[in-house]
Amino acid sequence: MSISSLSESKKLEALVVFVDDSRKILSKIEDAELKDLIKQPLTSDFKGKYKETCLLYSSSPVAKRVLLVGVGKIANLEMNCLRSVSATASLTLKNLGQTKNLGMSVPSVKKFSAAEVVEALIEGNELCQLQFNQFKSAPKDDEKIRFEKLSFEYLVSDKKDLKAAAAGYERGSIIAGGVNWARRLIMTPGGDLPPDELVKETQKMVASSPSKSQIKADYWTVKELEKNKFGGVLGVGQGSDNPPRFIILEYFAGKKSDRPVVLVGKGITFDSGGLSLKPPASMETMKYDMAGSGSVLAAFKIITDLKVKVNLVALVPTAENMPSGAAIRPGDILRMASGTTVEVLNTDAEGRLVLADALHYATTKYKPRAVIDVATLTGACAVAVGEAAAGIFSNNKKLMAAMMKASATSQENLWPLPDFDDFYAGMLKSDVADLKNIGGREAGASTASIFLRHFIKDNTPWAHLDIAGCGWYDAPRDFIAQKGSSGIPIRLLAEFVENFSQQNFG
Ligand code: BES
Ligand code: MG
Ligand code: ZN
Repeated sequence: MSISSLSESKKLEALVVFVDDSRKILSKIEDAELKDLIKQPLTSDFKGKYKETCLLYSSSPVAKRVLLVGVGKIANLEMNCLRSVSATASLTLKNLGQTKNLGMSVPSVKKFSAAEVVEALIEGNELCQLQFNQFKSAPKDDEKIRFEKLSFEYLVSDKKDLKAAAAGYERGSIIAGGVNWARRLIMTPGGDLPPDELVKETQKMVASSPSKSQIKADYWTVKELEKNKFGGVLGVGQGSDNPPRFIILEYFAGKKSDRPVVLVGKGITFDSGGLSLKPPASMETMKYDMAGSGSVLAAFKIITDLKVKVNLVALVPTAENMPSGAAIRPGDILRMASGTTVEVLNTDAEGRLVLADALHYATTKYKPRAVIDVATLTGACAVAVGEAAAGIFSNNKKLMAAMMKASATSQENLWPLPDFDDFYAGMLKSDVADLKNIGGREAGASTASIFLRHFIKDNTPWAHLDIAGCGWYDAPRDFIAQKGSSGIPIRLLAEFVENFSQQNFG
């Protein structure tokens, strides 16, 4: 049981109760002793401010402890606030050493259904607890608590909400499960997650999917990459002892005639820069250069776990960018899958090279409704927007609008960056090939996007998300309580696929 009725709960170690900034308790407490107990702080110190907490000890039969958590002004309360106050409750109880037999009362908030509220609460709890600790030695007894996972019984005030709350619980668990699955991969060191391992993790994910029978998967090796003339992926991968791969996941649960949405994710499992070697400090976090692939695979996992009836394809070109005697050299010319030739003047601009082949494949093979690629593509994007947003570019206004809506709902920020053709397109002209892979110091995120656009066939509706800044948090933030992978923009992608994949953009 994970959902039950507040009026019937007994003998909890701790009960979480949410209060707003007018000091209104957002659930129905019936037990007289508890009611009395809570009244004291509410008439003195506790103001119900956002994330404010107050711990009370009680002798009532309902719970030994009550943790009051403020949610602030109801008018300002959004889904992300619910995720955050849930995380506050969870982390506070963990710090107290309480991990078992816990209840969280489900706040009644008019603007959200019980399903939405419970979904946000479980997401906040699950996301805040991800700990990338599998490389830490077993903890000493007094530290064991840090490794424990804490879960709540979600308690509704009104029995008629039980069913909706259970649905929200199921949905939130699936979404958080998908996001945490990817966050763990994104934080895994490059040495432990070369392309072959990313393939294995994907295979495991597919094998355990409830939609397994509707998923068709293919995992190309160098042989198929060569057969299909994926010169970009092969070129980037040739300097590494770990060979490149291409992951193809197809899920056709929608109408047969319905054209699919195709998600493409950059899967550089480690980016050293290649012969255009990065300085050491810039390499420290480059295990997350596969965050784009983690994001699209996780969105695929969420959609297939939720069994949404849509047609969806996820494509991941994956390689390790390394310097070696076999590595691609500055000045080398690659012939991409589309036939376009590219002069590689900087081997550190490798993301666009692997994406070029995948985007060509996406737009020629599937006649897609829309193609969305996600990539930690440029330091320039991170400089422009920081951790606050993904930079977005699109060749299609309707698709851009749909993405902005999905962004508003998921509260994962997108910000449009400029794509002035007449200024930027010329910057990619090569003296000796069709294109060069760098456009100079200025407008780096924009020239990268214009490079990608060359590989979009027939003006297929396409959006490019540069997550170099928002994909990785340098410090904990809200319900992402560990420094590292933020999980952005996984919920946004799932939201887009679920709610906009019937729309015509073209
Ligand atoms: N993976 C990097 C981009 C990156 C930088 C992501 C910082 C996250 C944080 C990408 O492959 C890269 O190295 N891009 C170069 C492109 C340049 C050589 C045109 C960059 O941004 O410096
Ligand atoms: Mg690079
Ligand atoms: Zn890179």
